[in-house]
Amino acid sequence: MTGDNILAALAKDNNHIDAAERMKHVLVLDRTDSTNRVLKDMARDGASTGQVVIANEQDAGRGRLGRSFFSPKDKGIYFSYLLRPEAAPKDAVSLTAWTAVATVRAIERVSGFTLGIKWVNDLVSGDRKLCGILTEMLIDNSTGSIDSIIAGIGINVNNSPEDFPEDISDIATSLAIEAGHEISRAELAAAMIKEMDKLSANWPYAYEEYLEAYRTYDITSGRDIRIISGASIRPATAIRINDDFSLKVKFSDGSVEDLSSGEVSLKLI
Ligand code: BTN
Repeated sequence: MTGDNILAALAKDNNHIDAAERMKHVLVLDRTDSTNRVLKDMARDGASTGQVVIANEQDAGRGRLGRSFFSPKDKGIYFSYLLRPEAAPKDAVSLTAWTAVATVRAIERVSGFTLGIKWVNDLVSGDRKLCGILTEMLIDNSTGSIDSIIAGIGINVNNSPEDFPEDISDIATSLAIEAGHEISRAELAAAMIKEMDKLSANWPYAYEEYLEAYRTYDITSGRDIRIISGASIRPATAIRINDDFSLKVKFSDGSVEDLSSGEVSLKLI
């Protein structure tokens, strides 16, 4: 995937933006450690909202909770998008959830394939994950508000089953495996740029629309789950997505809790 491929895909069905102008704020790298790391440095140096970094390969792709994100060459999309919303740090949770919706929409448009959202921000087909989202934040210390949000999205696009290392081969999948054919990564990158531009323009006015869409794609509610937080593992049942994108869960003793994404991860049972 090159900048030229993405430019051609952006220009194809687009009358409302100047694709060449848009691409001036899209940095395409063949290989890097982490697109989130690169974009965070650019944000510190004053990059503006809408700046994108895409790589064909990451050798230190970051995941949530200090994990790594498997990012092999020319197989996936490793994509980071800079937002500079006027928002408080607590709003980062909903921006991450909106990003999950934007990503489902982009994938749907390019592949015809609709994925589910596993709370809070994994995209899955069945119970297998094919996309993860890691949002990182810079805070303006003088005001305590958000300086910038780096929304990092990793999508397994054209991996075949044998491409995955053993530790994730039972839980990971790719778009190509699910759709049964290869998907153009340049088309998908272009669709991601458009959806994230839309998200950026819609924030925070379209809150209800994104919440409703998130609930449509949600596959966690109604499921028995395990809540993993550090060394603790608690079984529960997921009830629903609350208006603030937290997850209402019920434990076997009848008690109810609202989970915020922070340090928690879930396993579906
Ligand atoms: C997760 O599933 O835990 C989140 C994975 C996020 C991976 C993406 S790939 C692009 C961006 N750069 C990174 O280093 N991480 C994110």
